[in-house]
This record gives sequence, C-alpha cells and structure tokens, in this order.
Amino acid sequence: MSTSGAAPAPILTDAELKLLQALIYQECGMAFDERRTHFLQDRLLRRLRECRADSFYAYYRLLISQQGKEELAKLLENLTVNETSFFRHKAQLDLFQKTILEELLKHKSARREYSIRIWSAGCSTGQEAYTLAMLVTDALAYYYLRNPLPIDMPLPKPLVPPPWRVEILASDISYSVLRHGQEGAYSEHQMSTVDYGYRLRYFDKVSDRYAIKKALKEMVHFDFHNLKTEYLPQRNDVIFCRNVMMYFDEAEQKRLIEKFYRCLNPNGYLFVGHAESLLGLTHKFQMVHKDSGTAYQRLEVKE
Ligand SMILES: C[S@@+](CC[C@H](N)C(=O)[O-])C[C@H]1O[C@@H](n2cnc3c(N)ncnc32)[C@H](O)[C@@H]1O
Repeated sequence: MSTSGAAPAPILTDAELKLLQALIYQECGMAFDERRTHFLQDRLLRRLRECRADSFYAYYRLLISQQGKEELAKLLENLTVNETSFFRHKAQLDLFQKTILEELLKHKSARREYSIRIWSAGCSTGQEAYTLAMLVTDALAYYYLRNPLPIDMPLPKPLVPPPWRVEILASDISYSVLRHGQEGAYSEHQMSTVDYGYRLRYFDKVSDRYAIKKALKEMVHFDFHNLKTEYLPQRNDVIFCRNVMMYFDEAEQKRLIEKFYRCLNPNGYLFVGHAESLLGLTHKFQMVHKDSGTAYQRLEVKE
C-alpha cells in the first residue's frame, strides 16, 4: 500500500507499449528503440497523470479519439528533443556560406533570379534559422562589396539588398518551440556561441535577454510542419534538417529523404546533422565535402 497518498503508477504492459509506439511512429515518425524506452515510459506516465487516465490503454484510447487531438499534440511535444544552439557545427556552416551560397548567388545573379529560399526543418527554438539568416545577410553584403550594384543603395542600407528576396522558413512539430523562435529572444547562456560581432549587428539587449533585430527577424518565418506528412514546403534552394532524422528509423529516414528531394529545386542542397548521413539511403543525392563540412546535392536523375 502507498504511504505517500499518491496513487501507484499504472503498469505499462508490453502490448500497451507496442500500441503507443506504433501510434507515435505513425503520427510523427519518431521510433523509440530499447535505448529510449525508459524516456518514452517516463513521458507517457507524466501525460497519463496529467489527463487522469487510470491505465495506459485508457490513455491510448484518449489519444486516438476525436477529443484527444490536443492531447496527442502535447504528447508529441513532450517526446521531442529540442537541443539546439546558434552556429552549431562551424565546418558545415562554412561550407554553406563560403562555397554553396557563393555559388548560388553567382548562378542566380547570372540568371537574374533574385530569390533564395532556405528551410530549417525541425528548427526547435529558432537558433539554426537565425544563424542562417545572419550568414546569408553577410554573404550578400560581401558579394556586393566585390560586385557593386550599378545603382546607389538606399540609405539606411537594407539587410537584403534589392532586388534580392530571402525567405527562411523555420518549421517544427512543437508549438512551444515555434513560439520561442517567433519571439526571438535568447538568454546569455543560449548566446554563448554567438561572437561579439554578430551580437552587435543582429541583436538588441532587452533587459537580460538578447532580442533578434527586427530586420533579421523579418527574414525568418515560423510555421508548423510535421515531417511525417506529405505536404511539405516546396521550391527550396537549401534545406537544413539537422539532428531530426536520427530519431527516425531507416524506413522513415528513406521516406523523408525522398520528400526532401521533391522539396528542393534542381541541384539544391540538403544539410543533415553531424551524426546523420544519407549514405546507403538514397542514390538521388551526391555528397559534397569540404574541410570537415558535408552537404548533399540533389542529382537530376530520371525518375
Ligand atoms: C534536436 S532538435 C534539432 C534542432 C536544430 N535542427 C539543430 O540541429 O540544432 C530536433 C527538432 O526536431 C523536431 N521534430 C521531431 N520530429 C519532427 C517531425 N516529425 N516534424 C517536424 N519536426 C520534428 C523536434 O520538435 C525538435 O525541435
């Protein structure tokens, strides 16, 4: 008998665990193998208690019911790992800015096609998307330092020189991280990987937080997208999907790579996390590697 007064935790049977794992996989692609079962059990128990369900089967029934939609979204939020930081993996960002973006600007200018679309898929609290916005802004400024425009730049100089249009989409399955990203204010701790130059140019200090400046913020648009679904943002020049695929099993990774292929413009680039790779999962991308940075370029193969 419990002496603390708290009801004993219901037992999670193997059958209930399988049902819940299958539902989560079907809803968001996340696969929980034995190494992560403990984490899954812990999060399920927290949500079950919150909903006052008296067994895991009752909780499962709630999740699959019409009125359980909101709870399902909350459960998925609780299962995601949201670890992120500004300027994560420098070698890869150097490859993006100094090689790929440089080439993109050159080719697009030659074709008089002045728009760039980048998608941070699984953006968490927005640091990746804002990092990309800072890198693109600097790359454009540097490009025009070497290739001056024949017209006078309006003053004060816009972050994105006309006629360019830069759209950065930041998406996630968790509404709470999207709200944080949209707000764009970060603690000193979250700023530890942002050097002074970037802080001075792209942030305002608002009480104890660093807020992304309005002009940079306007380049980034936050939206909900579940990577498990088929309807995903199209016509991207570059997709960053870092440290997301690692929570999916191989079958789901293959499906996602196929979707990313379709979401990219011809010859577009996909960046995945340091611990992730496309090797053995597709023949539709070629690896680009420079100074420890890796990206994957879409190949124009016949379907
Ligand atoms: C570890 S964070 C990675 C953040 C950032 N990309 C980085 O590398 O710093 C993984 C993010 O992927 C999101 N995520 C997981 N499954 C997803 C899905 N099916 N659709 C969209 N986002 C998902 C999580 O909510 C989480 O914010």
